[in-house]
Amino acid sequence: MIVDVAVTPVALQPTDAGRTIAVLDVLRATTTIVAALGNGARAVVPVEEPNEAVAHAERLGRASVLLGGERESVHIPGFDLDNSPRAYTRERVEGKTIVFTTTNGTRALRRAAEIATAVIIATLRNRTAVAHALLAGAGDVTLLCAGSNGDFSLEDFLGAGAIVAALRDRAPGLALGDSAFAALSAYTRHARALHAAIAQGTHARRLIRDGFAEDIAYCAEVDRIGIVPVLIGGTIAAQSA
Ligand code: MLT
Repeated sequence: MIVDVAVTPVALQPTDAGRTIAVLDVLRATTTIVAALGNGARAVVPVEEPNEAVAHAERLGRASVLLGGERESVHIPGFDLDNSPRAYTRERVEGKTIVFTTTNGTRALRRAAEIATAVIIATLRNRTAVAHALLAGAGDVTLLCAGSNGDFSLEDFLGAGAIVAALRDRAPGLALGDSAFAALSAYTRHARALHAAIAQGTHARRLIRDGFAEDIAYCAEVDRIGIVPVLIGGTIAAQSA
């Protein structure tokens, strides 16, 4: 089993096709998806554009659907929920299908789905559960960082490193690509003060400026939930580890 990290969707290589791809958008799309499913949402349907989300919600029937996501990190007019994982409470989401669109996260999911044999939704909060699922799959793995508008994102790279660390703990002989080794090294350096490290990043500083500081703390928590959401046929649903 080989583990690579793609630091942005553009960095995906032809060799990543046909692998399991675990997608990370630590701030905040994949963390929000995990929060929604952990609180009993029936499914999350990632779409690329807000108008696509509205049309899809109408097709599914508005009563059972919530529209969620962001543009420029803030609430989309007419949507039920923004992209703050803390907004996806059980009271709000249980039994609902969330049609979800974000700037980078949902696009990375779509890109992964085009080339992967399996797409897993990864965060710091479910990282050990994800590591177990990847090891059970036994095939080569790419950890795909959603990044930010095409650029490298510190928090996604640290999240990828956290998953590599959990994989290495359980399978010491694992072959790491250079980017996976670098992610592991970065995570190991900051593991004891992950929140502080993530808060240094460009995206975190933007979210703090916009009033979402508590989301950074939530997204930086490791191993809080045992679900492994998978994207199949355009819909994300939870599997228990
Ligand atoms: C994204 O998908 O670009 C992010 O989740 C943005 C955000 O923090 O809301």
